[in-house]
Amino acid sequence: MKFKWDPSSYDDKHNYVSEFGEELVHLLNPDQDETILDIGCGTGDLTYKISTSCKKVVGLDSSFEMIQTAQKKFPDLPFYNLDATNFKIDFLFDAVFSNAALHWITEPEIVIQNINRHLKNGGRFVAEFGGKGCVN
Ligand SMILES: C[S@@+](CC[C@H](N)C(=O)[O-])C[C@H]1O[C@@H](n2cnc3c(N)ncnc32)[C@H](O)[C@@H]1O
Repeated sequence: MKFKWDPSSYDDKHNYVSEFGEELVHLLNPDQDETILDIGCGTGDLTYKISTSCKKVVGLDSSFEMIQTAQKKFPDLPFYNLDATNFKIDFLFDAVFSNAALHWITEPEIVIQNINRHLKNGGRFVAEFGGKGCVN
């Protein structure tokens, strides 16, 4: 059975996830000239944080409900309801970022290929994931 994400409960009870993820944004160190992809962006808090220091950020998430909430919270940012195992965006990114999302995906090889396909030469991949028993 596929896990169903609930954006209200996520923002009320699990906001520590994106708070911890702020350290990862420091590691990403976005630059004003850069275009960045946030994979598994959830309700968009870190996508927004990244947007304050780069040229353009795109948030992608496979949960319609999470993306809908992200878009409501941050109407000026582009959010796409896409699956990390099967997506195509028509430009290349300087960096791909992902916080607390990749361990939910059981086909890591495909995701890594997709990330590689969307990165410019020399682009960065900055991600946090893991946790025993996290995935279904
Ligand atoms: C724990 S939340 C993290 C959200 C956000 N990155 C944050 O730090 O608050 C995990 C997110 O990964 C997303 N996710 C799970 N599988 C995915 C997939 N195959 N493709 C894209 N997103 C996925 C979920 O929908 C969920 O929004």
